[in-house]
Amino acid sequence: MANLGEFIAGMPKCELHVHIEGTLEPDMKFALARRNGVALPYADEAAMKAAYDFDDLPSFLKIYYEGMSVLLHEQDFFDVTFAYLAKARSQNVRYAEMFFDPQAHTARGVPFATVIRGIRRAQAEAERVLGVKSQLICCVLRDWSAEFAMTTLLETLPYKDWIVGFGLDSDEQNNPPVKFKAVFERARREGYFLTMHADVDQRNSAEHIRQLLEDIRVDRIDHGVNALESAGLCDEILRRKLALTVCPISNACISPSSKAKEVRRMLELGMRATVNSDDPAYFRGYIGENFVRAQRDADLGRQDLMQLSRNAFEGAWLPSAIKDRFLAELDAYTSD
Ligand code: HPA
Ligand code: ZN
Repeated sequence: MANLGEFIAGMPKCELHVHIEGTLEPDMKFALARRNGVALPYADEAAMKAAYDFDDLPSFLKIYYEGMSVLLHEQDFFDVTFAYLAKARSQNVRYAEMFFDPQAHTARGVPFATVIRGIRRAQAEAERVLGVKSQLICCVLRDWSAEFAMTTLLETLPYKDWIVGFGLDSDEQNNPPVKFKAVFERARREGYFLTMHADVDQRNSAEHIRQLLEDIRVDRIDHGVNALESAGLCDEILRRKLALTVCPISNACISPSSKAKEVRRMLELGMRATVNSDDPAYFRGYIGENFVRAQRDADLGRQDLMQLSRNAFEGAWLPSAIKDRFLAELDAYTSD
């Protein structure tokens, strides 16, 4: 293989941290706005992209939620999900676990059923037509109340077979994991795997990661880079073999760096670090571009890149027979 760029492009991949609503590209936003008669506060795509000028998590979230106003009907959720899965397939993603944020829609009067039925239909179609497999993680928004989160959890229950995990995202400031302890205890009892965002460089990052481990007992950590500040946290994450879903381009947009060197450090420590895209339409990079960025910023070699991909398949919430098939395909990639 000629170079690392080609190596990355061809490598079988597993994405564990992508928000479906964060894959809504400007052209689709305008198309859906026209279809649904929704006014957007931008004259054209160039003006919209120019507003994608984030320097922290809240400045990103404002634009992210604003963009969702065009998602109203089941077909809209189908379209955005199918487009992501097609793009992911083109970058050799074999399997994706995708977040969705139902509260950002139900709070606008869009029924939960409309959201999940559209997404589900796209997943089935993408698996059939493109051969890309996926599962869903329902996220609740940490800057809303624990009561609203519980109501949302209860709304998921008729669709339990369509959802593999339960997560937490949105603005972390003053919204620690323990705020949602009872909600996540119930989610666990309902059979969901648990994950939570521990966004990079937050005011209480290390304490929030401690809560994730001790109070919530998550099965995975989204971002979680600041665990490196504490040997105790790293030891516990290692002991429990928890995957950390790092998103280099997202990190570079909302913090001073891509944290790629931290990814390398995690690999050196034997931690299950993975590379993901987060909100690719907003941060301008899908999983392939995120691998390229991590490789460039931390001078990663083929073994590192393969380990990152292996970590993701190993950390996936799939039955072991399916996981083993993906892992065998990954191993075969370097043996030819
Ligand atoms: N962090 C918090 N909330 C989010 C993110 C994220 O990376 N993406 C979409 N909502
Ligand atoms: Zn995220």
